[in-house]
Amino acid sequence: MEEGDERRKEAIVLVVIVVLACLALVSLLVAFSYYCYITNKLSKRLKSSKRSDFGEKGGLSNIQVATEKGIQVFTFKQLHSATGGFGKSYVVGHGGFGSVYRGVLPDGRKIAVKLMDRAGKQGEEEFKMEVELLSRLRSPYLLALLGYCSESDRKLIVYEFMANGGLQEHLYPDRGSNGGASKLDWETRLRIALEAAKGLEYLHEHVSPPVIHRDFKSSNILLDKNFHAKVSDFGLAKLGSDKAGGHVSTRVLGTQGYVAPEYALTGHLTTKSDVYSYGIVLLELLTGRIPVDTQRPSGESVLVSWALPRLTDREKVVEIMDPALEGQYSMKEVVQVAAIAAMCVQMESEYRPLMADVVQSLVPLVKHHRPTSTVGSSFHKSPISHEYDKHTS
Ligand SMILES: Nc1ncnc2c1ncn2[C@@H]1O[C@H](COP(=O)(O)OP(=O)(O)OP(=O)(O)O)[C@@H](O)[C@H]1O
Ligand SMILES: [Mg+2]
Repeated sequence: MEEGDERRKEAIVLVVIVVLACLALVSLLVAFSYYCYITNKLSKRLKSSKRSDFGEKGGLSNIQVATEKGIQVFTFKQLHSATGGFGKSYVVGHGGFGSVYRGVLPDGRKIAVKLMDRAGKQGEEEFKMEVELLSRLRSPYLLALLGYCSESDRKLIVYEFMANGGLQEHLYPDRGSNGGASKLDWETRLRIALEAAKGLEYLHEHVSPPVIHRDFKSSNILLDKNFHAKVSDFGLAKLGSDKAGGHVSTRVLGTQGYVAPEYALTGHLTTKSDVYSYGIVLLELLTGRIPVDTQRPSGESVLVSWALPRLTDREKVVEIMDPALEGQYSMKEVVQVAAIAAMCVQMESEYRPLMADVVQSLVPLVKHHRPTSTVGSSFHKSPISHEYDKHTS
């Protein structure tokens, strides 16, 4: 009887062992197939991200740009027909990147198309930087990117159309075909100053790491049909240092007259370099003068050197004001704007204000500005990959 019990027990133990062994084998198989599935998925993702970084042929010529959703990839043919075959009468301006054309999409949207005519790596890097960065930034104070086209050597960027073009065309109409004094009144100039400041504030303080524009100037402030301002041109933009007071070293780029002295001398770039350029634009808005004008008498040709000593002197500040603004401003307003400009263009970068301070100081001076609640940014303090850094260093 006992022997029978013993055998039954042994049989049960054996069955349990066999069942457990089978279960272990099945779990091993499941784990292995899951591992294969994950590695396969990862390698596919890696391959596609490599393609988007370096183009399908491994070079930069057929750039596959990694953009956010909502950015359209156009064919050259589509943009060709939207701009009247890139006809001369469709040209709205020329810049360092190439010509800009106005156009209309089949759905009726008005667009501006930038056609790159700069060959070489620098041009392609700027193209990639502009498209990738702008597709991730969302602010009513930054020019909206609608899409792009990259077909072998053909590189085009499609933006929202800004009916009144660049700020500089309105500040210096006598330099263009229109002639005469600027029609941009004081109230509009103050609003433009505020909206452009909000554009820079967004770049410096609402995204992480901060974006340094590096080419902030009056021609990169675009005006819509109601003269509301947006900041444009991110081809030279650079991701800033996350550390307080930190800087990144780069080749000195930018436009003459707008580049901060410490950046020009040492190549050390911080958000305060943009604050300096912003100060120069404020001086342009106050004086109606271009930053460097060799046709003016000596002592007046460099705007900042001529204006700075007068900015903080109540008696002299009116001397620098654009004659076209006569009778439109109060002394109180001028003194305040001049004080902001003086702080922005200080030689010592640490003493320059933050763009948030500039915005705070300008808000009370602007009567009809869009309320801050319309800052429909989907990107507040959101991270931007350091990947972008390598494109411009
Ligand atoms: N989105 C747009 N809508 C309407 N006009 C535009 C638009 N973008 C550019 N323009 C016009 O085209 C001109 C040239 O612009 P572009 O940015 O190519 O050159 P830039 O700003 O003068 O110089 P840089 O190449 O150094 O930035 C602008 O001054 C403006 O008049
Ligand atoms: Mg520009």
